[in-house]
Amino acid sequence: MGAAQRELTDEVMRRFSGGETASNEEIPRPSPSSPRLRGGAASDRSDRIDARHDVTFVYDYTSERDDLRSLYEKAKSAQWNAKDALAWDTKVDPEAENFANSFIPIFGTPIWDKLDKTRELPQLRRHVCSYLLSNFLHGEQGALLATSQLACSVPNAEAKLYAATQALDEARHVEVYSRYLREKIELTYPVSPHLKALLDEILREPRWDMKFLGMQILVEGLALAAFGVISQTANEPLIREIVRLIMLDESRHVAFGVLSLKGLYEEMSASDLADREEFIVEASRLMRDRFLMQEVWENLGLPVDECLDAVHNSPIMQTFQSLLFSKIVPNVKKLGLMTPRVRKGFEDLRVIQYETWDASA
Ligand SMILES: [Fe+2]
Ligand SMILES: [Fe+2]
Repeated sequence: MGAAQRELTDEVMRRFSGGETASNEEIPRPSPSSPRLRGGAASDRSDRIDARHDVTFVYDYTSERDDLRSLYEKAKSAQWNAKDALAWDTKVDPEAENFANSFIPIFGTPIWDKLDKTRELPQLRRHVCSYLLSNFLHGEQGALLATSQLACSVPNAEAKLYAATQALDEARHVEVYSRYLREKIELTYPVSPHLKALLDEILREPRWDMKFLGMQILVEGLALAAFGVISQTANEPLIREIVRLIMLDESRHVAFGVLSLKGLYEEMSASDLADREEFIVEASRLMRDRFLMQEVWENLGLPVDECLDAVHNSPIMQTFQSLLFSKIVPNVKKLGLMTPRVRKGFEDLRVIQYETWDASA
């Protein structure tokens, strides 16, 4: 082993054994690096952003949209109580292989080979698990806020009723992920700057259809695909059951977006349509980058650039990141938004192959 390599290994060992595993840790928030993160007041405890959106009263209460009314009925009957529906007394070892090691993006790389498998690897597992679930948690809160805005702004009575049920669903998802992280993993990560930039964009957006597009079609489409991978591959039974229950709700949420936006873009002017195209392309790029896990590599003192290269080049991560778009791409097409510009954006992200997939599968 050369001197530089030894120095690196020593540094990794030092950081890993740095005694940073006190229970219920909260990792400090990274300073926002994205130019899109602007305005508002941020701290580790809360973050205020400036947002404006319409508030519409609708006085026609007769059912015009049977499809939305029936989704609302389904949502009411499918409610579950997170307190009783889950086996919260399940023992979880946060450092065990709760998700397959091969899901850790540096798996199989020279950095991986250097890890002490009895001491460093268990910590890495806990941090990766926390990073993933913490960002789900923050995304769920974003969905709670966006859906509350939608209940105010959408100009349709059935959609307002449905949005109210979704707000309750999202509150339950926040409750479940925050409890799991607090009680079982005992470590919470701050929101990824890429995800926060996207959530802020959706919450600031005054046009109600763009909120739908951003939250129900893009963010929730991605979440549904990610939860699908976790529910099929996790080794830990409690998180598998949590994700299974949440997915039942999320598939209704994506359907809400598709039903609400159906036909809307057929008549839209080219300049208005251009805003939607730009939004889809930019949001998709931010969503792909949210899984880079930069904060994990930094916190564990691993060589960040090498780890980011490993993430970019990892075949498993490439497959995972690509699969995340398997619901989004067919739904964007279904809404009539697969314009040449959006198609090029999806081609650049190498996810265009999903355009023929069935989003409901
Ligand atoms: Fe949710
Ligand atoms: Fe949702």
